[in-house]
Amino acid sequence: MNLHKSVFKKTGTAIVLSLLVACATTKKESRIVADFNPDWSFKLGDHPNAIQANFNANDWRTLDLPHDWSIEGTFSKEHSTTARQGALPAGKGWYRKTFTLPESAKNKSIAIEFDGVFCNSEVWINGHYLGKRPFGYISFSYDLTKYLNFGNQKNDIAVKVDNDAQPSSRWYTGSGIYRNVRLVTTDKLHVAHWGTYVTTPEVSKEKATVDFNVSIQNDADLPKEFKVVTTILDAKNSSVARLESAEKIAANAILEKGQKLEVKNPKLWDTKNPNLYKVVTKIYDKNTLIDEYETPLGFRYFAFDAEKGFSLNGVPTKLYGVCLHHDNGALGAVANFHAIKRKLTLMKEMGVNAIRTAHNPPSVELLQLCDEMGFIVQDEVFDVWKKKKVSNDYNKYWDEWHKQDLIDFIKRDRNHPSVMMWSIGNEIREQFDSTGVAITKELTQIVKSLDKTRPVTSALTENVPEKNFIYQSGVLDLLGFNYKHEDYGTFPERFKGQKIVASESVSAQQTRGRYDMPTDSIRFWPKKHAEPFDGNADWTVTAYDNIASYWGTTHEENWKAAKKYDFIAGTFVWTGFDYLGEPDPYPYPARSSYFGIVDLAGLPKDVYYMYQSEWSDKNVLHLLPHWNWKQGQMIDVWAYYNNADAVELFLNGKSLGSKAKKGDELHIAWKVPFEAGTLKAVSRKDGKIVKETEIRTAGEAAKINLQADKTSIKNDSYDLVYVTVSLQDKDGNLLPKADNLINFKVSGGAKIVGVDNGYQASLEPFKADYRKLYNGKCIVILQSNKKAEDITLEATTVGNINAATVSIKVE
Ligand code: GAL
Repeated sequence: MNLHKSVFKKTGTAIVLSLLVACATTKKESRIVADFNPDWSFKLGDHPNAIQANFNANDWRTLDLPHDWSIEGTFSKEHSTTARQGALPAGKGWYRKTFTLPESAKNKSIAIEFDGVFCNSEVWINGHYLGKRPFGYISFSYDLTKYLNFGNQKNDIAVKVDNDAQPSSRWYTGSGIYRNVRLVTTDKLHVAHWGTYVTTPEVSKEKATVDFNVSIQNDADLPKEFKVVTTILDAKNSSVARLESAEKIAANAILEKGQKLEVKNPKLWDTKNPNLYKVVTKIYDKNTLIDEYETPLGFRYFAFDAEKGFSLNGVPTKLYGVCLHHDNGALGAVANFHAIKRKLTLMKEMGVNAIRTAHNPPSVELLQLCDEMGFIVQDEVFDVWKKKKVSNDYNKYWDEWHKQDLIDFIKRDRNHPSVMMWSIGNEIREQFDSTGVAITKELTQIVKSLDKTRPVTSALTENVPEKNFIYQSGVLDLLGFNYKHEDYGTFPERFKGQKIVASESVSAQQTRGRYDMPTDSIRFWPKKHAEPFDGNADWTVTAYDNIASYWGTTHEENWKAAKKYDFIAGTFVWTGFDYLGEPDPYPYPARSSYFGIVDLAGLPKDVYYMYQSEWSDKNVLHLLPHWNWKQGQMIDVWAYYNNADAVELFLNGKSLGSKAKKGDELHIAWKVPFEAGTLKAVSRKDGKIVKETEIRTAGEAAKINLQADKTSIKNDSYDLVYVTVSLQDKDGNLLPKADNLINFKVSGGAKIVGVDNGYQASLEPFKADYRKLYNGKCIVILQSNKKAEDITLEATTVGNINAATVSIKVE
């Protein structure tokens, strides 16, 4: 079994010290957080006998978690999930793991932590039932201590997962133990699960005060005397504040301890410099360290203002936000630190500074990365309350589970400095009837009882005040509005004195690399709207930003509106990435969404550069479409640019004139009769060239090109490398329509875990060693297989086209 540092060191609530399970250590250890992902047995279907100790799982498949069985399936319109949830199989499945524990663990407390199981998980240890968690996005833990065997005697843990009742969601959920699992061994006296809460009541450049609360749990039948040492460490692990106290605790009790500390000249956390600290809690029995626990900490202050919008550390800051669903494209729902980091890196480069976790508790890794990379998070918990959106969604569990799930959600996430808003729900049906009042009050009260430092919001659609009962509850701190950008100007009058954020916006559809002309008008989906979008026979949507859902608008129109009003704290675009399911405007075979600024494979669509030109500091000059058309065909050439007075366009060296954006325009456009060759744009400021960009007509396909996003990976069985595959002519120009089938062969320390090309209606499997290019490109995802051998990926295709290889080192 391998220790997975990159995930577990970053979980923010515990310190990985060493490994206990299956390789016992006799050293005196404090807290031991073991990676419990490897070596599970899995079988689809229902296997109730699997809870028994002598159960024979020989015909079960062996795999490492996290695991999503839906993504391994084949697309079909027959699946009960339907295309709305990705047209992949759901159903039931069982997981099982056998493990031993050393005798030395006998007098310890041992718990298992699950970050997320979709859904309806039930867990047994050595035949004892531990419990059930219907909500597929919630993190939970069970105390195993009473039921465990030590020494040579084995332990069997069995997990039933039931995602059979469909539809269970409005988007792809994945099925299985799709997030990480840990086994946590502590002394009987230890910091309780999610047992710390840190806030920073006063923050300035000179000084910050820290309120730190810790719950210390004594599982022993004896009272204890002990010492608690609380230290605040900066990014270099230097202590900047320390408190020590002697304590007493009764047998089988929990002690709540509040502490106040002060830090001089704190380095503030913001989106450009996400300076992090941590609080380390150490518990000593006399002089022996018996527990050590880490809590993330960042010093920042923020405010929402009804007139001026959002500010961070006193600096007015518009929220340049995107909504993200939890899936990781070809990996399905599998929560992999590196996949999430790649997603966020692409968003950061685009200029995004805020993420909304649509519409459920995110992975632990997403929040850790938002802390580390500098994103402001709107952390959202529910898409439905008591009233359903689809028949088998969370409404079924509302009465029994919503309190517990909400409490667990806040307790898990409230120490992350990146989290600055709690959203209690998205487009909740109860906003339309009076039952919404009581539920909003109840949920808000639960949140406030656990954290008063962040505003409670909800993403609303009804913007007539008297008709919106969530608003009528009067308890929301911040109003989130989805869509209806035309109404923004009326909000200050309608919602006097209220703080407002555009919690969701846009919902425009696009397919990467597809261009339909002319582009003079905006069209809306579905057809019932005045200017309908009829659709294309191949289920594509043009990548010019001029098609949108009727409830939304294009990216440009939305951003113009959000930018115009200071009182709109920011906008969360639907969505940063395409996601599985919800393939509006098409039916099957379309099976993933068209809403992303980046496609499902992680390849940016053109509008990415519109945002980059507006939201980032980078110099941008991006031209679209490609330059392979018919002689004389009239082409709409668009350019996104910034930091320049004007852009001059040249076709084969001949100037077609300069243009500049007028008023609130966000792009410039030319109509150019096509002529093969080179289209070049030059942006200038005060006569000086800022940037030059050119696109060239591609000739015959000559070679495959491979671009790996890393030159080396760790051999830890988790690290990923994403390789972008493209087809080029002899001069390196992209063949913009190529759909050749590419075959992959990998050797050394990695295996292929996913392939994709971003085409929303592709029915090729994500788990394969081949993929067709789509509009010239596809990706292959390699994952460490624990072999300490350098990796070679070879890509081949038929015809007179050169193969390509890329090498990646294994550290
Ligand atoms: C919104 C909803 C999102 C997504 C989107 C598609 O109304 O909140 O989850 O369905 O529409 O346009």
